[in-house]
Amino acid sequence: AAIKRYQFDIQMKNVSRLCHAKPIVTVNGRFPGPTVYVREGDRVLINVTNHVQYNLSIHWHGLKQYRNGWADGPAYITQCPIKSGRSYTYDFNVTGQRGTLWWHAHILWLRATVYGAIVIMPKPGTPFPFPQPAREFEILLGEWWNNDVELVEKQGSRMGLPPNMSDAHTINGKPGPLFPCSEKHTYAMEVEEGKTYLLRIINAALNDELFFGIAGHNLTVVEVDAVYTKPFTTQAILIAPGQTTNVLVQANQPPARYFISTRPFMDAPIPVDNKTATAIFQYKGIPNTALPLLPHLPSPNDSTFALNYNRKLRSLNSPLYPANVPLHVDRNLFYTIGLGKNTCPTCVNGTRILASLNNVSFVMPEIALLQAHYYGVKGVFRSDFPDRPTTSFNYTGAPLTANLGTSTGTRVSRIGFNSTVELVLQDTNLLTVESHPFHLHGYNFFVVGSGIGNFDAARDGAKYNLVDPIERNTVGVPTGGWTAIRFRADNPGVWFMHCHLELHTGWGLKTAFVVEDGPTPDQSVLPPPKDLPPC
Ligand code: C2O
Repeated sequence: AAIKRYQFDIQMKNVSRLCHAKPIVTVNGRFPGPTVYVREGDRVLINVTNHVQYNLSIHWHGLKQYRNGWADGPAYITQCPIKSGRSYTYDFNVTGQRGTLWWHAHILWLRATVYGAIVIMPKPGTPFPFPQPAREFEILLGEWWNNDVELVEKQGSRMGLPPNMSDAHTINGKPGPLFPCSEKHTYAMEVEEGKTYLLRIINAALNDELFFGIAGHNLTVVEVDAVYTKPFTTQAILIAPGQTTNVLVQANQPPARYFISTRPFMDAPIPVDNKTATAIFQYKGIPNTALPLLPHLPSPNDSTFALNYNRKLRSLNSPLYPANVPLHVDRNLFYTIGLGKNTCPTCVNGTRILASLNNVSFVMPEIALLQAHYYGVKGVFRSDFPDRPTTSFNYTGAPLTANLGTSTGTRVSRIGFNSTVELVLQDTNLLTVESHPFHLHGYNFFVVGSGIGNFDAARDGAKYNLVDPIERNTVGVPTGGWTAIRFRADNPGVWFMHCHLELHTGWGLKTAFVVEDGPTPDQSVLPPPKDLPPC
């Protein structure tokens, strides 16, 4: 094991897209930001120095941070933000994980431009459980706004106005030739006929689940969220914000230029954004003048593709990488996901949208929850988050416009150390049904079941996959349906859980788990680092 050091200077940079230039927040002046390359077992020290006017923190999405929530990064959950002119060193070990993850700013909407890849190579002498690729490429999918993202965020999250859609989707920061002023800067990956490549695909978009494909070429999925999968071949992948997917692609077609493309999946009854970002899969020696072909992607509302695709995802579950699914459950949780309106005297039309879990819309505290928990500061949060909804109703029946008494508060759930948890996330038709990608910090979980309609414990529980369910850190709860996850609460600390659609997070679709310390000192939260940003 080695020590890997990185310096992240948060600085403004003028970037021009779609015929407009604007200053954006970046790491080291790069967009997307630099890739963090580490090896399983390494210790990583990343010094973040903030040279911009915004307060900010960085989250290492998908890294478990065992006993070490201090390095996790969500602002006001595990740390207070790094103020302008200050530094903080994220100091963590990468244990028991290998594959593709990513990092992003974790405050307001700054992650729109502050994000990058994390590549964790397996331990020396441990090969991939799939054919060795000739080369690897990192593919970061994102969104671009012509407006200042802070203004867009304020409008959508705080003032109750409908959100703006982004002006473009991007592949490695570039929209591609279907957008104005973008042709010259299209991202291209050069391949040689007959060779196999590994693509490390990351969905860093703020608000869109995405389809992704390469014209004429099949993709073989081998890993998601830094967990190896049973390989399967598909024309397109589906990837939600927060998720990562590694695919193998063979350059086995007639040498030419092929479009790589990505566009949203959206099967909710709300306006569909179907702009397509493109890049080029370019065979070596082919001139730039050849016209590329567009891939065949599923249509934007293709829920059947989505269901089938997600069913194909299985953990590899080999002797070296077993799926240790909890078979017995100590704590059963059932959370409804609702959007709803609330009165807001200062908002346009007098109402604003609130999003809630079990009718609780989460309010961010002013002191980081992990600090409050560690030092026993009273009055920062309440540990009475309901295990199940207080009102039961036909969750996915006719649309409900009432908010069923949505309350606001900084309420979390307390979980005993090492207990096994089952959490069913149930989408509801409060305001509208919609797919929600849920992300849990500090853990991977197993997706033991998923379905459309209302969850029924007896009927649906009997059909769980407890053998090789996919293990991941972010899962899509289907539109008008439910998803059941299981995990063992063996990582003490305070762990955020939220919808990774930034708009919904801003509306309060989030909560946290306080996982208690275990009986021995080596099962307890580590002491905080000396340079932890003050609140
Ligand atoms: Cu990728 Cu809490 O986020």
